[in-house]
Amino acid sequence: MLITGVTGFVGRELAGWFLDKGIPFRSASRHPEAARLLFDDPLIDCKQFDFENSQSYGQVFDGIKSLFLTRPTEIKHVEPIIETLYAAKEAGVQKIVFLSVLGAERMSFLPHRKIEKKIISLGFDYTFLRASSFMQDLLKSQLYDIRERHQLNIPAGSAEISFIDSRDVAEIAFLALMGKTPVNDAVKLTGKQALTCYQVADILSEEIGEEIKYVNPTKYQFLQDCYHRGYSSDFASQLANVYTSSKNGISRRISLEAEKILQREPRYMREFVRDYRNAFIKRNSDRA
Ligand SMILES: NC(=O)c1ccc[n+]([C@@H]2O[C@H](COP(=O)([O-])OP(=O)(O)OC[C@H]3O[C@@H](n4cnc5c(N)ncnc54)[C@H](OP(=O)(O)O)[C@@H]3O)[C@@H](O)[C@H]2O)c1
Repeated sequence: MLITGVTGFVGRELAGWFLDKGIPFRSASRHPEAARLLFDDPLIDCKQFDFENSQSYGQVFDGIKSLFLTRPTEIKHVEPIIETLYAAKEAGVQKIVFLSVLGAERMSFLPHRKIEKKIISLGFDYTFLRASSFMQDLLKSQLYDIRERHQLNIPAGSAEISFIDSRDVAEIAFLALMGKTPVNDAVKLTGKQALTCYQVADILSEEIGEEIKYVNPTKYQFLQDCYHRGYSSDFASQLANVYTSSKNGISRRISLEAEKILQREPRYMREFVRDYRNAFIKRNSDRA
């Protein structure tokens, strides 16, 4: 078993599932030392791996039958991932659980769809996890604005988004890798509510106890902000595209597939905010 993106939101939770069950696995990261420190567990064989460096492919795929594949948002072009798929095939990998996006089947221009098609054409067994926006994104691109400016700064207008908790996605990835979901299938993973960013700001305000205002930036304003924050332009524009594309209505769809696989309701936004409440609050020591 190999997990790519092991230091990412889904990857690290997925790793936790394997560790909890005492199942050994290999992880692939550009920073294997960071992964070792993160988990500090002999069950993980941490290997150095970079999609953009084909020299790093050999050592990670050796002896691997199943792969959890994350396409890093930072990689704009699809070619390094396609090259990785060829290397995996040649090394004998049989099954891929791929972290894709909601609506990928309708958006052939997306790298995710191109990767899905290549996985199928190379003859892997597969599960595509077509996930809606992660609640955990609030802990990444939005954390500074929420903590420091009491703002939610997402260019989604008043679109409804069926946010899902990446911990639920990780659990489903684990079940898929364990053969507990149908093979050669794509599952739509959403939460049970589609919320506007105004509603998300209300939930944040209620749970944090300080007013968080949704500022509803234009795409241009959002990109300017990302630029000042030091994000790469590729990363910023991909992030902006995800949110602005939610205005086309794709992200408001609610699917019951996550609930069916988990055999429980997926987590709600309020539960997510409660669980991570401390991360959203500026501590007194931060104010000094
Ligand atoms: N965020 C969402 O709301 C959301 C929703 C649905 C689907 N998705 C999809 O999920 C995927 C990951 O999303 P994210 O950006 O939010 O992930 P993330 O959690 O920030 O994780 C990205 C991972 O990619 C790894 N990585 C980055 N560059 C790499 C490289 N050159 N070679 C090898 N590993 C590399 C990083 O690991 P190291 O730094 O340790 O190498 C990190 O673990 C994307 O394809 C995204 O479209 C995201």
